[in-house]
Amino acid sequence: MTIQLKTAIPGPKSQAILERRLKSMPAGLAKSTDVVVADAKGAVVQDVDGNTLLDFAGAIGVMNIGHCAPKVVEAIKAQAEKYIHTCALVTTFEPMVQLCEALNEITPGQHAKKTLLAGSGSEAVENAINIARYYTKRKGVICFEGGYHGRTLLTLSLTSKHGLFKKGFGPFGGDIYRLPSPNVYRRPAGMSEKDFIDWSILQLRNALISQVDPSDLAAILIEPVQGEGGFIPIPQAYLEEIRKICNETGAVMVCDEIQSGFFRTGKFFASEHYGVVPDMITSAKSLGAGLPISATTGRSEIMDAVHLGGVGGTYGGSPVTCAAALEVIKEMRTPAFKAQAEKVGAIIEDRLNHWKEKYSIIGDVRGLGPMRLVEFVKDRETKTPDPDLTLKIIRDAVSKGIILIRAGLFSNCIRLLPPLVITEDQLNEGLDVLEGAIARA
Ligand SMILES: Cc1ncc(COP(=O)(O)O)c(C=O)c1O
Repeated sequence: MTIQLKTAIPGPKSQAILERRLKSMPAGLAKSTDVVVADAKGAVVQDVDGNTLLDFAGAIGVMNIGHCAPKVVEAIKAQAEKYIHTCALVTTFEPMVQLCEALNEITPGQHAKKTLLAGSGSEAVENAINIARYYTKRKGVICFEGGYHGRTLLTLSLTSKHGLFKKGFGPFGGDIYRLPSPNVYRRPAGMSEKDFIDWSILQLRNALISQVDPSDLAAILIEPVQGEGGFIPIPQAYLEEIRKICNETGAVMVCDEIQSGFFRTGKFFASEHYGVVPDMITSAKSLGAGLPISATTGRSEIMDAVHLGGVGGTYGGSPVTCAAALEVIKEMRTPAFKAQAEKVGAIIEDRLNHWKEKYSIIGDVRGLGPMRLVEFVKDRETKTPDPDLTLKIIRDAVSKGIILIRAGLFSNCIRLLPPLVITEDQLNEGLDVLEGAIARA
C-alpha cells in the first residue's frame, strides 16, 4: 500500500502553514484540499506531517509525466547550470528553437506550422485569439458554455461559469459570442443523442445569422474535451462542423488543448481522436512538467501575419522551461508511454462504468482515454446536480489519502487527473479510496 496516514489531513504542521497562507495570501485563492506538500515523486505526495498520499489531481492536469520525472529534473539542472534566461526578444537559444520545431511536428496536421511560446495557458489562448484577429482582420470569436480559457481579461471574457470565475470582474472584452456546448448527457429529456447533436449544429449555424456575420468571424475557440466544464467530449459531428464552418468562412479554428493535451486522452492531443485538424492549437500544463510554459502553434501563414515586434514577452520560451518540455516530449514519444497512458485510461474507464451501475448518486461517467470524470446527481431522472455531496465525497476521500479536485459547470463532478506514470497498484488503491467515499455518501 502506498497511502500511509500518520495524522489527520491536515496535521499540526500543515495547519500551521495553512494559517500562514490564510494571513498572507488573498482569500479568493481557492484550494481543493488542505494538503501541504513536502515532497512529490511520480504519483506520490508526502505532506509536511509525514503522511503519504496519492495524487489524483496532478496539479490540475500538469503532471501527466509524473512529479519530478528524473530525466526532466536532470534536464532542468543541466540547463540551469549553463544559463537560466537570456530572453527570446534579445537573444536566440537552441532549446527554444528545438521545442518549437518539436511542437510543430507533434501537433495535428502536415501543413507548415510555427509556434509562439509563453508562460501560462491564458497567455497561449490570448495569443491565439489576438493573432487570429490580426490575420483575419475580423473581431468576432465564438466560444462555448462551460469553456475555461484562463483569467487574463481576454481569456476571462472567453471563460464561462460566471459565478465562480467572473462575478465582480469586468467589463469584459467584446465581440465574444458564447453558445451552449453540446453536452450530450444534459440534452433535453426524450431527445435522442443524434437529434440533440443535429439541433446543436443547427444552433451553431444559426449563430452565424443571429450573433455574428461570417464576414466578422475571426475564430471559433473550443476545447475538444472540455476540462473545467466537466470532461465533456465534443461530439465528432459537431467538431467536424466547426472545421467546415471555418473552411467556408475563413475563420480560424482554435483548439484549446491546455488540459486535454499531452496524453491526457491517450494521445498527444485530443483532436487526434477526431481526425479534425485545427488551424491553431494551444498547449500548456503537462507540456512543462510543472514549469510554466505554454505554446500557441498554428499555420505558418497565420502565425506570421503579425508585424515585427507585435508578439512576445519577457519569459516566453525561457530556456529552463524549454529543457523540461523537450524531455517531456521525448518521453511521451515512446510507445511505452502511450501504452501506459492507454492502460491507465482503460482501468479508470472500467472502474467508473462499474460504479455507475452500483451507485445511484452517479448520474454520468465520461471522458476520453485517461481523462475521466464522475458526475453526481440528486436524482438520475431529473439529473439535478449535487455539488454539496460531491464536496463531501472529496473531503472524505482526501481524509483517506488521495488528492482530488472537482469540475463541471455545476461543481458536481470529480475529475481524475493522476500522473499517467501511476502504477496499476497505486491507481487501484486510489480508486478504492474514492469508491469507499462514494459508497459512504
Ligand atoms: C483548457 C484550458 N485553457 C486555458 C487554461 C488557463 O491556463 P493557465 O491557468 O495556465 O493560465 C486552462 C487552465 O485550467 C485550461 O484548462
